[in-house]
Amino acid sequence: MTLEARLTVPVAPALLEIQDPIRKKLDRVPDEIWRIVKADDLIIAAANAHLRGMKGKMFRPTLLLLASELEGNADGRETAFAAVSELVHLASVVHDDSVDHSNVRRGQPTINAMFSHQIAVIMGDYLYSKALAELVRLGDLEPLRAFTAASNDMTLGEMRQLASYDALSFNESDYWQLIHAKTASLLGAACEVGALCGAPAYRAAMRRYGDQLGMAFQVADDLLDYTEVESVTGKPSGNDLREHKVTLPLIAALPQMSAAQRGRVDSLFATKLPDEADIADVVAIVTECGGIDYARTKGQQFAEEAEAALAPLPQSLTRQCLSDALTYVVERRS
Ligand code: IPE
Ligand code: IPE
Ligand code: MG
Ligand code: MG
Repeated sequence: MTLEARLTVPVAPALLEIQDPIRKKLDRVPDEIWRIVKADDLIIAAANAHLRGMKGKMFRPTLLLLASELEGNADGRETAFAAVSELVHLASVVHDDSVDHSNVRRGQPTINAMFSHQIAVIMGDYLYSKALAELVRLGDLEPLRAFTAASNDMTLGEMRQLASYDALSFNESDYWQLIHAKTASLLGAACEVGALCGAPAYRAAMRRYGDQLGMAFQVADDLLDYTEVESVTGKPSGNDLREHKVTLPLIAALPQMSAAQRGRVDSLFATKLPDEADIADVVAIVTECGGIDYARTKGQQFAEEAEAALAPLPQSLTRQCLSDALTYVVERRS
């Protein structure tokens, strides 16, 4: 395997198809992002260059651009807003990787691994503030309101997760609240702002769709942490257990466990740095106790609710792509 092949997370064919109708605009988003974040400061410029080499799925810009095309006449601001949606996401993952002590994302070293935790904190702030500055430049209060509310929710979600780690009492309703805040809020905002750029009549429908899709998206992410390997996802697997983060598969499995199984989970959560064998052991217990199946079913239910939100939309290729995006979200492997 060449170095490049190891470092690149391949894009799923299903995602490429969803992106096909907005491909030209989507391909302009990276340049928009680097226009917004360009810096003279040497360290920020080096971190920017590193981030530029880390290719993500561009899922938030994809949804924003699709939503802007719902009536076939996007107003021209959508590429800049799409760049803002990816920048807010990027800021959140730069911070998240530092919080989660994660060394790999998108098959590449994270900012905290490549530079330092201090630089990750400053870079995340830099990216957030540049996203805000771009929103101010664009001068429309509604998108500014949507993205700042999402950023605030995401911060609260990350703080809640940090404060609750090591807490095996974290229940399903805490989990729904948490993933809505840390993930669905931004996907909902991206869909809503897309509608504001060309299909304002569908603003509320797109918000509902994005919120429900966002729930399914994080449930899938939490499943992948249990089920998939790093060479496929581009980020470490088992990291949630390693970091004592309680997600849906574990929440659902806990009540089904025998005393011996529960003891093994308690012991992992009492170990500061669990080893790979402890993690594999708990993954097997969670699977055996139905946690993976339960989370898959819930993810599917959110996708169905998102599909229902599409009902008022006119039949079109764009609507079909939004619907296909739901299948992609629940079936994705990275
Ligand atoms: C990762 O998001 C963070 C979550 C909200 C789960 P993505 O899975 O969209 O990451 P990239 O942008 O494709 O790397
Ligand atoms: C989502 O949670 C993080 C953000 C919304 C920034 P995770 O911590 O599960 O995301 P990954 O798995 O690191 O991408
Ligand atoms: Mg993380
Ligand atoms: Mg995760």
